[in-house]
Parts: sequence; C-alpha cells; structure tokens
Amino acid sequence: MEDTAFMEIDEQFSLPNLNRGKEKIVNDAPDKKNAPWVEKYRPQSLADVAAHKDIIETIDRLTSENRLPHLLLYGPPGTGKTSTVLAMARKLYGSQYQNMILELNASDDRGIDVVRMQIQDFASTQSFSFSGKSNVKLVLLDEADAMTKDAQFSLRRIIEKYTKSTRFALICNYVHKIIPALQSRCTRFRFAPLDAANVTQRLRHIINAEQLDVTEGGLSAIVRLSSGDMRKALNILQSTQMASPQITEEAVYLCTGNPMPKDIERISFWLLNESFSNAYLYISEMKTAKGLALVDIIREIPMFIFNIKMPETIRVQLINALADIEYRLAFGTNEKLQLGSLISAFTHTRAALVAAAK
Ligand SMILES: Nc1ncnc2c1ncn2[C@@H]1O[C@H](COP(=O)(O)OP(=O)(O)O)[C@@H](O)[C@H]1O
Ligand SMILES: [Mg+2]
Repeated sequence: MEDTAFMEIDEQFSLPNLNRGKEKIVNDAPDKKNAPWVEKYRPQSLADVAAHKDIIETIDRLTSENRLPHLLLYGPPGTGKTSTVLAMARKLYGSQYQNMILELNASDDRGIDVVRMQIQDFASTQSFSFSGKSNVKLVLLDEADAMTKDAQFSLRRIIEKYTKSTRFALICNYVHKIIPALQSRCTRFRFAPLDAANVTQRLRHIINAEQLDVTEGGLSAIVRLSSGDMRKALNILQSTQMASPQITEEAVYLCTGNPMPKDIERISFWLLNESFSNAYLYISEMKTAKGLALVDIIREIPMFIFNIKMPETIRVQLINALADIEYRLAFGTNEKLQLGSLISAFTHTRAALVAAAK
C-alpha cells in the first residue's frame, strides 16, 4: 500500500497567486507557426494522451474526486509523462492553470538549492482558486532521478512541509534512482514505450492535420525508427517533411542517416557472396553515397544473419565478431580498418560453413 495520505482538496474562493518562482511554463499557444510539432501536438487534455489507458483513467478519477496524491511518473522518454501532468493541471485549474503549476527541472545547473528555493517560494505563498477549481498547487519536477540522495532527502522534507497546499509530480526515467523514502510518498505510474499501433495512430492524426504526403512505407519507417518514443517519431516526421515533399521510406532513412533494410540486405548479400576486394569496394561506395556510418550498418546486420540457415556455433561466432567490431568502433577506431574486419569475419564464416558442409 502506498503511503500516500490523500488530502481532501477544499474548495475555496480567493485571489490569484502570482507564481513568482515560475520557470518556463507550458506552451499555451499550440498554433504558433513553425512551432516544433512535439509542442504543437502535445496532448491538451487527458483524453488526448495516447495509450496508458489505465493510468489516464486513474489520474482522471483522482482529479475528478479532488483526491490528488503526490505522483511519481517514470519510464522512457517520449511516452507522455510530462504531457499527462500538464493535461491533468489543465483539468484541475482551467484558466488559472499558469498560476497554479510550477515546472522545474531537477537537473537545473544552478543546483538543487535553487530548485529548493523556487519550490519554497511557490509553495509557501497562499494559493487561491476560482469557480470551483482546485486550490491545491502543483509542482512538476522533471528529471528527478538526476538529484543526489541528499537532495532527494531534502525534497522529501519539503514535500512533507507543504503537503497541505501543494502536490508534487515527480518525473524520471529510472525509478530505482529515487530513494524509497520519496517513492513511498508518491503514487507511482510506469509509462511503457508506446506500441506501434498507438504511434501509428497518433502520427496519422498529425499527418492529416498537416496535410502531409506520406507513403505507407514512410509511415512504418518512422514507427520502426522511433521505437515507442513519440517525441522521436514527431521529430523524424517533421525533419523529413522539411527535407522532402513526399515522406517515403527512403526519405525517412536518408533524413535520419539510418541504413535502409534493403541496403543492409544488399550489404549482407555482398558479405556472403563477394570476394574481399569487391565487398570492400561496394560497401565503401554505398557508405559514401548514402552517408552511412559503419557502426549503424553493423548494428543492423545481425537481424539478417538470424534469417540465414547455419549451425548455431558458427552463428554465435559471427555475432560475437560483429559485437567486437561495434565495440572497437565505439572507441573511435578507423572505419576502413573495421570494414576490413567486418569482411574478414564473414570470410571466416563462409570458410566455416564450407567446412561444416563437408
Ligand atoms: N502518450 C502520448 N500521446 C500523445 N502524444 C504523446 C504521447 N507521449 C508523447 N507524446 C508526444 O511527444 C511529446 C513529448 O512527450 P512528453 O509528454 O514530454 O514525454 P515524456 O515526458 O515522457 O518524455 C509530446 O509533446 C507529444 O507530442
Ligand atoms: Mg518529459
């Protein structure tokens, strides 16, 4: 059981607070021209948030019942954690929204003391509400996992001190970096990566709104490359759109600098069938023509190796050899040298396959 201490939120009627500690607030002008689409298409209401049905329902119910606990939202980037808290604040505060929420980043380079002072400043001023909206304030603390243990302990004291008038929503990627004493004061929600269907649906919505020309191959390439991160999906969509009038699979891969599956397929074919010098020449040419990095190519090759029939021992040797090359590349070794290593790894594999067939 979470030690949440639900507070009944009294309805009061008083004056607005000036929210002096306010940092950057929430864009309220989603229609600005040339705005990044991640901002323009940030969900405005809880109903707009894709996926996470159970979480959204729970948060929706708690806010309707005025029983908002402190929250801890965690999970990978681009899954809607910040958007959920902001949408919730819109619902709680209506037009008073901007006065009632303080948005902070725990990794603020001015240090935790600045964060602490801003919270104290914000939380200790009287809060007031209008027309039946909540008068309990909300502090959104992003990147809470960047805080040291000491800072987290002092945050816990602040939370306790102001718990009557203020709710805290902590956001982080890694929940295990949050001290138990802080976790136990919050209701936790885990945001999973969005599944392909949700990303696709949300992208279609934006494609319609922006009247974009996107092929099915282009759409599925964006979904594939963003791996459940909606921020990434929107950034790829917008940058490809700026580079090319039609968003095709090719345009997406070109824009992100990722090798296309069919390029990897060709490279794998060369590696398995061509002589060392031809393979070297063809791959080098393709790398130059498409601006590909060897490390990105090597990362994709195992997918194709898994489709080729070969004894498991040989497959494992090859995968290990690729991992070694990837590792060396990560430390900045010469690409040409490592391309040679890649081709030799396949030459060894081919020799082993011939030997195994005898
Ligand atoms: N679940 C979601 N539903 C709809 N849009 C989303 C969702 N998650 C992320 N996005 C999009 O990605 C952007 C970044 O989302 P955000 O809530 O800041 O993610 P997080 O805080 O989890 O990193 C949002 O502006 C929105 O456009
Ligand atoms: Mg966020």
